[in-house]
Amino acid sequence: MSPAEECYVIGGGRPLRGDVAVSGSKNAALYAIAAGLLTAEPLTLTNVPRIADIDELAEILRALGSQIEVDGETVRIATPEITSTAPPAEQVMRLRASFLVMGPLLARRGEAECVSPGGDVIGSRPLDVHFVGFRMLGATVSRHGANWRAAVPEGTQLHGARIFFDYPSVLGTVNVLFAAVLARGHTTIVNAAAEPEVAMAARLLNRMGARITGEGTPMLEVDGVRSLHGAEFAIIPDRLEAGTYLLAGAATGGDVRVTNAVPHHLDSLITKLREMGMTVEASDAGGVRAAANGPLQAAQVQAVPYPGFATDLHPQMAAAMTQAHGISLVHERVYDNRTLYVNELRKLGARIVTGGESVIIEGPTPLAGSAVRALDIRAGAAVVVAGLAAEGETTVLGIGHLDRGYADLEVRLRALGAQIERR
Ligand code: EPU
Repeated sequence: MSPAEECYVIGGGRPLRGDVAVSGSKNAALYAIAAGLLTAEPLTLTNVPRIADIDELAEILRALGSQIEVDGETVRIATPEITSTAPPAEQVMRLRASFLVMGPLLARRGEAECVSPGGDVIGSRPLDVHFVGFRMLGATVSRHGANWRAAVPEGTQLHGARIFFDYPSVLGTVNVLFAAVLARGHTTIVNAAAEPEVAMAARLLNRMGARITGEGTPMLEVDGVRSLHGAEFAIIPDRLEAGTYLLAGAATGGDVRVTNAVPHHLDSLITKLREMGMTVEASDAGGVRAAANGPLQAAQVQAVPYPGFATDLHPQMAAAMTQAHGISLVHERVYDNRTLYVNELRKLGARIVTGGESVIIEGPTPLAGSAVRALDIRAGAAVVVAGLAAEGETTVLGIGHLDRGYADLEVRLRALGAQIERR
């Protein structure tokens, strides 16, 4: 059976309790792997999650000339020579992060050609931030058939610039940073993404010899260098995976500690869980523990760029809110099509409606098991959270989406006392 045909069968209605450790961050690991294209020397990454998206990006890098060895959670990348500046279209269309090869190819080879990347269908996902950045650094960007082509004009090289982003795009910031680190002179990126994964990418680049300051803020300063060197680097823990387990604990009236969660990556979630009546303990040494303390209360959440509440925790939060007393609201301000999961939650009995990009949830609702579908990674996580809270058996179809983003999901949930099987 291929992963797309497999399903989860969940026997819900049991509070999740116990400790769980999360993998390295999916998104941060993808940025780190793409960074491997920026140097001829070996880059060794540890704490890389064992998920399908990592293998997909590794395949794309191989097609560009990288040698990549995946050994459990360690990935070794060496790209002595870039042999192609055009990644294979079918592969690029499967993975949004594949577009991150553009910045490094442009910086190292002066040209890159790529189709528009695929990824989850959660809204319009333009690329203009990437292109504005490349152009400001001195490249031309044009359309050739289905491809985007970025090139450094003959006889010139990428140069520093002051770049303003209309929107703090996460991948846009990383891609432009990749090009800027090897550009001549100084670059300032204004309105950069401040997500912890972007900050980690900047720290990794510095470890490789780049000169970036301001990481984790909306203002990045870069002094270009001639070349980067190899490094060894550990990927940060996945705050979105951590948030998913904490919300599964909340939805089931349980008590879950994510032992390696970084508390300051989860400020917004911790605050909301406390507002909802959970007892939350958070420390750098002990991770984050959220325990039910009486009935869950309704709350209001706005999904916005970091440090605001993460859009990638919106569907799981809505699933937990079905168990909260009162009327809850999630207002999505990042994507314009994130709310398709709502129909799946309704199949389990949730009282949930959408109005534009707002989702209104009335609770608490006794959910009842049913067959539901994982529509994307986070919509899939939401139906798992709801299935864990529902009485009876829930079947989750389309779990290939979950395999793209969550390593050993069922194993970790079982360790917390969940009844969940892959079939
Ligand atoms: N946007 C623009 N202009 C652009 C690019 C984006 O306006 O040029 C807008 C989009 O319209 C959208 C918003 O920015 O409304 C978010 O897009 P962004 O470019 O920030 O997202 P991304 O970089 O494509 C990454 C993550 C997503 C995560 C978002 C937001 C990866 C591979 N993907 O996508 O992760 O939702 O940032 O935090 O890192 C996931 O892990 O499930 C996932 C979808």
